[in-house]
Amino acid sequence: MEQGWTIHRFEQIDSTSTWLKDRATLEPHKTAAVADFQSAGRGRLGRQWIAPPGTALMVSLLLHPNWQVERGPWLTMIAGVAAAETLAYASGLNIQLKWPNDVVIELGGELHKMGGILQEVETDNGRLTQAIIGIGLNINMNSADLPPATHTPACSLKSITGNLFDRDLLLDQLLSRFDTHYQRAEQNQSPQKAWQKILITLGKRVTATVMRDGNPAHKIEGIATGVDEWGRLLIETDSGKVEPVVAGDVTLRGGTSIQNTHKSSTDGTDFTD
Ligand code: BTN
Repeated sequence: MEQGWTIHRFEQIDSTSTWLKDRATLEPHKTAAVADFQSAGRGRLGRQWIAPPGTALMVSLLLHPNWQVERGPWLTMIAGVAAAETLAYASGLNIQLKWPNDVVIELGGELHKMGGILQEVETDNGRLTQAIIGIGLNINMNSADLPPATHTPACSLKSITGNLFDRDLLLDQLLSRFDTHYQRAEQNQSPQKAWQKILITLGKRVTATVMRDGNPAHKIEGIATGVDEWGRLLIETDSGKVEPVVAGDVTLRGGTSIQNTHKSSTDGTDFTD
């Protein structure tokens, strides 16, 4: 069992993230809530997150990092790397991330979504006082039980491999890998390198519509060449200028779109073909 984590387990709950949010000031750093079923699971952009009982790994992590707010995206990056590494190690599949927080796999040239991350932070005086990182991973659902595709088809470890996976073991792995990357971040090391290595978005042509106050402000088109240490996507335009982009909804050229949002800025970025 994982060191240093207080783990609350639920057969059924509304949402592990909501449960932790309601108790965040009372619970210690490194508290996890994990559920077999969520009746009101939340995804990004106000979407629902639905999974049949006992099929998904649904866990929320509470941290009190006391980091400078600029490091907020590091938590999503760390969670994404830990999730992708865990699933890849267990299955042998090439699990990747779609910037900034979707867990994906490319099958027959098409992206399939296996999971996602919903990060909610509280700040005080420029410090990150509390972060709740909700992680939902499709593990043992049959193809027929997967949620209908909105922007991209969903998949699970079972729908691809035909095998069932032990969700407790996966949770153990996930927390342990999260710890490893979190400790590096505590020593001021950005998760940029590990993250960049598994980002499927890189090398692809994207068009970003930069949003300001909820309205489209301007478009940036070019090749996604990398990410900086703060998790911003670097887009090299045809004129050779490199534009850092804070948040976005990405449609990869020639691929399927998946929507993403960082909550770290009032600005957002919308990516389309
Ligand atoms: C996404 O929209 O891709 C993010 C989904 C995050 C779902 C997880 S499941 C555990 C935690 N509890 C929730 O209600 N949501 C997150």
